[in-house]
Amino acid sequence: MSDLSIAEAMPDPEPELRLRDCPDWVYLLQEFDTLYRYGSAGGSALIRAHRKRVRDRLSATMADNPPILHREAQSKPVTAHFPRALDLGERAAMQGMARALREVRDVLHWEYGYEKMPKALARKYAYCEILGPKGPIQCDRLILGFVLFAPNTTYPQHAHTEIEESYVSISGAWSENNAAVYAPGSLILNRSGDEHRITTGDRDPCLLAYAWTGPEDRLAAPGMTLRSGRRGSTSRPPA
Ligand SMILES: [Fe+2]
Repeated sequence: MSDLSIAEAMPDPEPELRLRDCPDWVYLLQEFDTLYRYGSAGGSALIRAHRKRVRDRLSATMADNPPILHREAQSKPVTAHFPRALDLGERAAMQGMARALREVRDVLHWEYGYEKMPKALARKYAYCEILGPKGPIQCDRLILGFVLFAPNTTYPQHAHTEIEESYVSISGAWSENNAAVYAPGSLILNRSGDEHRITTGDRDPCLLAYAWTGPEDRLAAPGMTLRSGRRGSTSRPPA
């Protein structure tokens, strides 16, 4: 067979998917955009600045029409609670986000992000990124995702170096550092180095959306570690 006929016999390479080829991802990003554009900063200048950073980076990314990176769908034990979390989310203040998330639930890549996972937490926690350096929506300047907790979970104390993080409740009740109880629609800001420990309600799972901003090299390798030992131990940045 000549080189020409071999080339003719080869199947066409898969065309590269980009954001605008995938309406479900576009609509989910639009929910994040709405959240960070029209929600309130509650009078906090720090939260207002964070919200602006997130929406500016998100707008720029959407305008770029970035590639969609293939990540194999992956579940974790806690994702058995995901249908209930979505169901509750669709009945509460964040119903638009919960519905948009339902449309991509079969392709989500749930993971732990930690090399060393406490055994009990491995059954009660996982997160999935929807936008970031690893995809599925490729972006080097922002990470957006969701974290899911089983009922009655304690997520140990941790902090993020050079990363500013906001959590927005989608469903379930939770508390951070034993301060207040947050309901769907609430936003919490954790600045770089802020120690935080999360607990969730007894009866139902808790689903939070999150956004991370920070330097590109740090977003590419966040170096997540959990504190060991008693809670409230001395603050120090993760390794
Ligand atoms: Fe965190």
